[in-house]
Amino acid sequence: MTTKSVVRSIVGLFLLEVLALNLSRSVQGAILGRSQKSANENQRSFHFHNKSGRRVDVLWVNVHKTPNEFVSQNGGEGYPFGGDTSVLSYIGHEFEILEMPSKKTKKCLFEECRKARFTVNDQENQEIVINDSFKVIHKDNRQRAYATASNLFEECQREINDKNMNPMEALEAMSECMETKVNESLAKVEEERTFQSALRRQMTQNLVPYACGDVNFTESREVSNLTWTYRVPTTGERQEHTLNVLHQRPTSEIFKIDNFTKPKFCDAIHIYEEDGKVPMTAMSEGTAQGSMLFQLGIKMYALAREKLWWDEMEFAHMHKQGIPLFQVFRDEKGLDLPALKCIGDIATATANAAKGRCRLAGAPPLAAETKPFVVEEGSSQLAQFFLFCDKPKSLGGLHFPQAGVHVAPQAGRLVMAVNRFRDGEMDDFVKEYHLCPNYNTYVHTFVEPRDDKSKQSS
Ligand SMILES: *[C@@H]1O[C@H](CO)[C@@H](O)[C@H](O)[C@H]1NC(C)=O
Ligand SMILES: *[C@@H]1O[C@H](CO)[C@@H](O)[C@H](O)[C@H]1NC(C)=O
Ligand SMILES: *[C@@H]1O[C@H](CO)[C@@H](O)[C@H](O)[C@H]1NC(C)=O
Ligand SMILES: *[C@@H]1O[C@H](CO)[C@@H](O)[C@H](O)[C@H]1NC(C)=O
Ligand SMILES: *[C@@H]1O[C@H](CO)[C@@H](O)[C@H](O)[C@H]1NC(C)=O
Ligand SMILES: *[C@@H]1O[C@H](CO)[C@@H](O)[C@H](O)[C@H]1NC(C)=O
Repeated sequence: MTTKSVVRSIVGLFLLEVLALNLSRSVQGAILGRSQKSANENQRSFHFHNKSGRRVDVLWVNVHKTPNEFVSQNGGEGYPFGGDTSVLSYIGHEFEILEMPSKKTKKCLFEECRKARFTVNDQENQEIVINDSFKVIHKDNRQRAYATASNLFEECQREINDKNMNPMEALEAMSECMETKVNESLAKVEEERTFQSALRRQMTQNLVPYACGDVNFTESREVSNLTWTYRVPTTGERQEHTLNVLHQRPTSEIFKIDNFTKPKFCDAIHIYEEDGKVPMTAMSEGTAQGSMLFQLGIKMYALAREKLWWDEMEFAHMHKQGIPLFQVFRDEKGLDLPALKCIGDIATATANAAKGRCRLAGAPPLAAETKPFVVEEGSSQLAQFFLFCDKPKSLGGLHFPQAGVHVAPQAGRLVMAVNRFRDGEMDDFVKEYHLCPNYNTYVHTFVEPRDDKSKQSS
């Protein structure tokens, strides 16, 4: 990516934000789409631009240690993403920019290598420029919004002042002028959008290990809620479930239902699990647990039929293609990360952190190894169910980087990811997902039926 395009992207991002401040909610919705905030609320990213003309290192300063500890962001613990000029950090983190000696002369420009510091603030889209006098220029949305809004206003005022109008006319003209200017900006934003989405995806991609390694990584918020009513065929009982829609496109969808199933049904799953699978045949075992699996199965299929618009879908369709009731993904290794933040004075906090009991506030984020899956283009896969059954541990969960969706595990929670609808296109949003460490996930897959011989001949 060229510097120019990075700058363009930043301009695009801030235009989006500026407009978001000024436009009505309905217009915003249309332009911004349904954006999801999935990052920790204290997380902030900054773009770093090196305009010093020198090689520099950007170091995170751990001010909780005396003497301060410096952690390099270039190959160090920090995590650059979306190219080496973006860093994801936290509000209040302090960074030091350090001039590095030239490789040839082994010397800095002056006797002493220059340094400069900045602190991540609470604003979105921060931009840090180190200029050729080694001074930090720190820009953020608040400043940009202010600058741009006053520019629009001033521009319009200038145009209107030239026209010698009475106050009523001037007001009208002013309002129209502002609207035109905003419309012009909108057109520009639209141009940026395709480019933006590509960039944003790349950024979220590199975030996965950190999302999965952050015990307090916030879940994605739903874009809407629906109610799903299930009538239990055997008893006629009506069950109402809230369906939280987390991602919705014409071609793909992700939603979750809490308390889809009860713990005793999960026990039944464990009983019939063998070699990482619970076979479909377990449902017809005639045992109490088999019957529970059957009840769970028919409920899942009732939901899938409705969501995939496939009324006649049966277990047999999937069974014929060798799909088990559940594929079980266990994390045998596990990852033990301290779930608590260190509290108390610096000495106590640092000592406890060293023992691995807690994490220092502002410590560099930890990366976790995840189990990645990609649904190939042209695959016959339509959708998947992910069921969480086990008691909560730290971490775990399901991460869809392209859709920007993160779901935490919770016993009884079901997630459905629709890769594409029948005979439909597959977009990229749901094709990749990661299972975060420490949790077992039970997965059922729906594929498009192979053409039946009997059907072809009829
Ligand atoms: C900073 O700028 C110098 C000179 O243009 C360049 O050599 C270097 O790669 C840039 N980036 C960093 C991170 O130092
Ligand atoms: C670098 O930034 C500082 C602070 O904004 C400014 O005073 C100085 O003029 C800048 N230097 C150059 C060469 O632009
Ligand atoms: C701005 O765009 C809106 C929506 O497209 C349109 O209704 C309105 O007339 C435009 N205003 C001006 C001044 O061009
Ligand atoms: C969805 O329902 C939950 C409660 O189940 C509620 O907290 C949330 O605000 C609702 N979200 C929307 C977008 O309506
Ligand atoms: C799920 O069940 C638990 C325990 O029975 C209850 O506390 C919780 O409110 C339920 N959640 C929903 C979304 O129904
Ligand atoms: C996670 O959140 C809980 C509850 O707010 C808090 O007690 C804990 O310290 C947090 N852990 C970390 C590592 O931030």
